[in-house]
Amino acid sequence: MPQAFNMKDKVIVITGASRGIGRGLATYFAEQGAHVVALARNLEQLKALQTEILANGGACSCHPLDVRDVPSIQGVFDSIVAELGRIDILINNAGMGKPIPAIDITESDWDEMMSLNMKGTFFCAQAAARHMLPKQYGRIVNISSQAAVIAIDGEAIYCSSKGGINQLTKVLALEWSKQGVTVNAVGPTFTYTPGTAERLDNPEFRAGVLANIPRGRIGSIEDIATAVQFLAADSSDMVNGAFLLTDGGWTII
Ligand SMILES: NC(=O)c1ccc[n+]([C@@H]2O[C@H](COP(=O)([O-])OP(=O)(O)OC[C@H]3O[C@@H](n4cnc5c(N)ncnc54)[C@H](O)[C@@H]3O)[C@@H](O)[C@H]2O)c1
Repeated sequence: MPQAFNMKDKVIVITGASRGIGRGLATYFAEQGAHVVALARNLEQLKALQTEILANGGACSCHPLDVRDVPSIQGVFDSIVAELGRIDILINNAGMGKPIPAIDITESDWDEMMSLNMKGTFFCAQAAARHMLPKQYGRIVNISSQAAVIAIDGEAIYCSSKGGINQLTKVLALEWSKQGVTVNAVGPTFTYTPGTAERLDNPEFRAGVLANIPRGRIGSIEDIATAVQFLAADSSDMVNGAFLLTDGGWTII
């Protein structure tokens, strides 16, 4: 019987892999035996990640990609397939949050976050699916957020973008699963990364976060990685269009 959740030799593409959750996912899946393809803007940071993974006996390639640069996306995914023959799994992780009171949001604030969180997610999914659909196999996991289903003060754009990702996940799941490509999303709660360090290092903010999490701790990258692994596994073939929260129960109260 095949081992459940086996990632050995899977080709996993991860966007925003240079730091934070994306970097953590890259090292986690390399340890599981996958061939990780790390994408981000900063090639130097990606090379450092690659060196670390290779030194630990893992497999890793890296390519520079700014997911806001839509015309460049397909070429990067084409070159991954030219190098490795296929893409089994795409983890759409690149994203940002920046608290701004709604009354002060400018058009450029809106475009900056939406083009990264939503547009980048869609066009990376499309570029991967163009290779997955002809092979009748693929797994796409979008890193959404608990912010997709709750309101967070000062996060009008972020919450909108993550809510949009959840809807996008469902439509892509509907369209592409007929050809073997499932699409799902994970919704983490606050997790300590360079993107959240400044806020979580503030004791008052951290206490406010913890007060909302019945499980009593902030999230870890491993919480997210194991949820992604479940959705990315062969054995989860009937899980399609799902939103798997790793929020310690924030959204149940
Ligand atoms: N950290 C949390 O508390 C938390 C909670 C829920 C969801 N998330 C989501 O997880 C994902 C990663 O968050 P994080 O906390 O690790 O963030 P981070 O800021 O620490 O890292 C973001 C990553 O995205 C990359 N990136 C940024 N702009 C990019 C671009 N234009 N093109 C390509 N890559 C780009 C960065 O280089 C970096 O690797 C995001 O989608 C975020 O919304 C994070």
